[in-house]
Amino acid sequence: MGRKFLVGGNWKMNASKQLVNTLVSNLNAAEWNTDEIEVVIAPPAPYLDLVRSLAKPEVYVSAQNIYFEKKGAFTGEISSEFLKDLGITWTILGHSERREIFKESDEVTAKKVAYALGEGLSVIACVGEKLEEREANQTAAVVFRQLAAIATVLKPEDWTHVVVAYEPVWAIGTGKVASPQQAQDVHAEIRTWLRDNVSEAVAEQTRILYGGSVSAKNSADLQTQIDIDGFLIGGASLTGDFITIINTRS
Ligand code: G3H
Repeated sequence: MGRKFLVGGNWKMNASKQLVNTLVSNLNAAEWNTDEIEVVIAPPAPYLDLVRSLAKPEVYVSAQNIYFEKKGAFTGEISSEFLKDLGITWTILGHSERREIFKESDEVTAKKVAYALGEGLSVIACVGEKLEEREANQTAAVVFRQLAAIATVLKPEDWTHVVVAYEPVWAIGTGKVASPQQAQDVHAEIRTWLRDNVSEAVAEQTRILYGGSVSAKNSADLQTQIDIDGFLIGGASLTGDFITIINTRS
């Protein structure tokens, strides 16, 4: 079976009850072929319950981060238990904003990925290079290092519930989208890395999303690339463009 295209919306730290109502109403009114497209939205944690209760079942809801402990004295952190209690089945982990601003290392990210999977969650695990790393021809080295940290703590069967999001940091929120070829090149390298370091089956089955200034204008070209299995969308997921992007695929 082919890899199901996944359109993810990461709202980051943007929400209000009014915005939730607008965005979820629009999504509930939209239609897509659920055999071919999976839609996952990641609102800020305080809105997860509201989004889950309003959104139709075809819309999967994701956290943007979790911690790797069940409960206790971890002020401000989000437990997988909370997500399970609310019917939330996904979490994003290792977003570059977590890595950069909150100093989450490859190892911490990997520990979170393993923990989330053990808790029965599906994970969108983010990787990607900074501008200076790309300019120093370090893109593959950085992405492989981030993947290796995760692969080290997973069993091959764990990858069934992992989606990799390749998000070049220089493309996030900048309007400077990677060209379809630039994205395809890195996606193909990631797939080869999975083939060489995990297994042929994991390489074939794992979905690799592109994220970084995806818009209604550029998504049609990006999604023609053979190793682009979906998108992780930031800014455009807060607008009607999100549905246009889903429809581009439909
Ligand atoms: O998680 C989403 C990415 O960081 C992309 O954000 O679409 O606003 O560039 P963006």
